[in-house]
Amino acid sequence: MLDRVDKKLTAALAVSLVLAAGEAWAFHKDVYEPRVPREILEQVQEMESPFPATPERTEEGRKIYFGKGLCVTCHGMDGKGAVFPGHAPRDFTDGKWQKLRTDGELMWVLRNGSPGTGMPVRVGTAITEEEGWNAIQFIRAFAGK
Ligand code: HEC
Repeated sequence: MLDRVDKKLTAALAVSLVLAAGEAWAFHKDVYEPRVPREILEQVQEMESPFPATPERTEEGRKIYFGKGLCVTCHGMDGKGAVFPGHAPRDFTDGKWQKLRTDGELMWVLRNGSPGTGMPVRVGTAITEEEGWNAIQFIRAFAGK
């Protein structure tokens, strides 16, 4: 089991390094700029989780982050983002960023990835919608840490 996880992690890292190296000069958007295309930004910003915020869901989100979502590989144990060639993963402890983004925008990134960066599509590939919403709830818990 551990072996399989290790292989998956290694594969994810290898893919992201290749992506990141290829895109290093192509994409240097300010971290606070919206990732969602302008035409749909307002609509996406209003999208909310259909699930209630509960401590159990934060816990489920933690399992996704450290488990099958592979988020920890790039976003790190402390949510500050692993050191990475090319476009850096987001620092989830950044309170300004946390305030600027709605949950809907985070879900859009989980469904679509962040084009031009190493952030891969997660919902529909590695995790379900519900697991995605739980992971977002867990990411919110990094604020100010
Ligand atoms: C292969 C590396 C990698 C993996 C795995 C990964 N991310 Fe990311 N993530 C990134 C990078 C790089 C960025 C920065 C993208 C950008 O600046 O647009 C990012 C950005 C984000 C953002 C911020 C987008 C925004 O609007 O600012 C969120 C939220 C996010 N990731 C959530 C997750 C979650 C949840 C998982 C696991 C289910 C995950 N990521 C897995 C590399 C990764």
